[in-house]
Amino acid sequence: MKVTVVGAGAVGASCAEYIAMKNFAEEVVLLDIKEGYAEGKAMDLMQTSSLNGFDTMITGSTNDYSKTAGSDVAVITSGIPRKPGMTREELIGINAGIVKTVSENLIAQSPNVIIIVVSNPMDTMTYLVHKSTNLPKNRIIGMGGALDSARFKYRLAEALECPTSDVNGMVIGGHSDKGMVPLIEKAVRNSVPVSEFLSQEKMDYVVQETKVGGATLTGLLGTSAWYAPGAAVSELVKAIALDSKKMFPCSALLEGEYGLNDLSIGVPCILGKNGIEKIVEVSLSDAEKAKLAESAEGVKKTNGLLEVNA
Ligand code: 2OP
Repeated sequence: MKVTVVGAGAVGASCAEYIAMKNFAEEVVLLDIKEGYAEGKAMDLMQTSSLNGFDTMITGSTNDYSKTAGSDVAVITSGIPRKPGMTREELIGINAGIVKTVSENLIAQSPNVIIIVVSNPMDTMTYLVHKSTNLPKNRIIGMGGALDSARFKYRLAEALECPTSDVNGMVIGGHSDKGMVPLIEKAVRNSVPVSEFLSQEKMDYVVQETKVGGATLTGLLGTSAWYAPGAAVSELVKAIALDSKKMFPCSALLEGEYGLNDLSIGVPCILGKNGIEKIVEVSLSDAEKAKLAESAEGVKKTNGLLEVNA
């Protein structure tokens, strides 16, 4: 498998690193507009290969899309990240133009590519790729839910005082502080609902800390996070590479699923060699349905800004 990662900043480099470390891809091309930057990151990463035991070949390129030709998967991380106090939605003006151009350049070189969108505001950027390209909808995937679910599991394990391997849970809805819908009623510790272990107050805390997970890190780091975003991307790419049919919440174009239309938002998706193999409609409680509907309204409002900015 050949994977392109556009943007060699912290998130892009972390994607390349985790993909290589998992050793399922033959080739990763890292691309950036900053002269020599992607080449430098690629070389630095390649010098870890004997230490970390991977055979994936990582190369870098300064904006030469011909190097990306024949990619099976491309990850778009380009654009500006948020600074402390900023919402993801505030990035739309600059990032929309970048994401549109990048996706066109990628598809020109790799007509069969599956695109994973990371740039923020992620659900709107995913929708923009749908609207501005002719790719079938199974080949455009927004990465948000996999990351938010990892943060949810971290907070669940913290509250339960147990290892993360003992918990499971999923976050659907928009990838925004207000829009995320952590499915706490469905979260489990080794198949037992977490409500058997946690008070309502503790569960509310887990939900709230999950929703502001990205903002908390932006406050601490001065820019947005990269390890967990990179790891989440690597899991999505791996599921595609191995045709594993694993289920992740991803931002997918909805056409009636969950009663929603004409937007990309986080819902459970089965991933395999064709990208999104299936959108799974799980049964939601009335409270979960209401939260998802409210989240969709927020995403649509942000999508509405595309007309004036794109
Ligand atoms: C985050 O939540 C980058 O949006 C990403 O960290």
